[in-house]
Amino acid sequence: MPYDTVYTGNFYQNGEFEKLAIGVTGGKIARIAKAIPGERAIELPGAVFPGGIDTHVHFRDPGETQKEDFSTGTTAAIYGGTTTVFDMPNNLSPITDYEAYERKLGIVRRKAFSDFGLYSMYIPGNGSVIHEDSASLKIYLGGSTNTVGIGDLGNKDSKFLNDFGRPVVFHAEDEECLKSTKQEPKSLREHNLYRPERCEWKAYDTVRRLALTKPVAAHVSSIPPAFDFGNILQEVTPHHMLLHDSMDLGPWGKVNPPLRDRTTQERVLTSFLDGRFFMVSSDHAPHAEEDKLEFESAKAGIIGVETRLPILLALVSKGILPTSLMAKTSSENPAKLFELKKGKIDIGYDADFYSVDLKKVNRINQERLHSMITASPFHGFDAVFPQYVVVGGNVALEKGEMIEDHFGQYLSFKKGRVENEQE
Ligand code: DOR
Ligand code: ZN
Repeated sequence: MPYDTVYTGNFYQNGEFEKLAIGVTGGKIARIAKAIPGERAIELPGAVFPGGIDTHVHFRDPGETQKEDFSTGTTAAIYGGTTTVFDMPNNLSPITDYEAYERKLGIVRRKAFSDFGLYSMYIPGNGSVIHEDSASLKIYLGGSTNTVGIGDLGNKDSKFLNDFGRPVVFHAEDEECLKSTKQEPKSLREHNLYRPERCEWKAYDTVRRLALTKPVAAHVSSIPPAFDFGNILQEVTPHHMLLHDSMDLGPWGKVNPPLRDRTTQERVLTSFLDGRFFMVSSDHAPHAEEDKLEFESAKAGIIGVETRLPILLALVSKGILPTSLMAKTSSENPAKLFELKKGKIDIGYDADFYSVDLKKVNRINQERLHSMITASPFHGFDAVFPQYVVVGGNVALEKGEMIEDHFGQYLSFKKGRVENEQE
């Protein structure tokens, strides 16, 4: 047996579907052929795509595992066709130094069913103690869950960030601007007004001034004048594309940056459909019921790691979203950003796939999601869920049911080069 496994199916490769046989060795694609005779193959039904990559999740592990841990978070990811996640550093004790990163890695690595990378949080002055494995650095220009605003960034910061050589992801809401507005919103509408679009645009100005080589704006919720992002890559979320502040979502729709008004939301969606944004991430940010009781005091965050791809796939199924744009923004572009051999069906690439029946549109039922907290503002939305998911050459989801006997790999980004660390 030259291959560990052979998968056959209708694979999405270079913008087209083709019936292929894929030989997998050591978790990587070793051969692509019309057929590989003499080998027992696993047939993946429907359309087969490279595994989803979600570069923005908050799995709360360690610190708030009553909201999510790495086991439930990555289970939800796999049920949604996502085979790689990047976890944010705003744990209850934020990941700002080497020890905190190591401690977190030690806790989460044996719970991950999908591949994963970890962020560190950059605050001016902590450059020398940041873990060199970090997939990326997150900078909160404005306060949000478990963060504080960080004040001014200068040339020294730019130099460190560029020398570090990894993408730098910004929570782009300007702290001074946020402080100048009213607080304690009572509704989605007020939340939008009190964290206005101009605070987001002001933060883009700050990022542009830093002159970084790989800046990324997390969760773009509105469009700056003249669509001027400079060299900032844009991440958009399903919630900012599909939900707005007139919807009756209560505290479960409270998120930072806020859901905008319908006009802005439609512009964000249209811009995405026109191919103007770089990637789609979920910003999966679970909170417990007691954190979402009163709007004013409710914590901000919406879950989404399991529904991100299925929602996009429903748009593909209805002919609203081109297949190629879905594949690019949910897998191919994130892989390029992080220099991963993922997001593509090609020799030497990781054997991460999901297979779907694009004609099978279902409604999202929050009771059936796999996160620890399942309340979702997307309850009732159309979605296409995967039937099979393969992670690193192993079947992780079979006929829509999770198989829990394989684990994902930790992606270590030492010296700008990704290594898949074998256990
Ligand atoms: O709504 C949000 N929730 N925005 C953030 O920036 C953080 C996130 C969280 O971790 O809860
Ligand atoms: Zn986030």
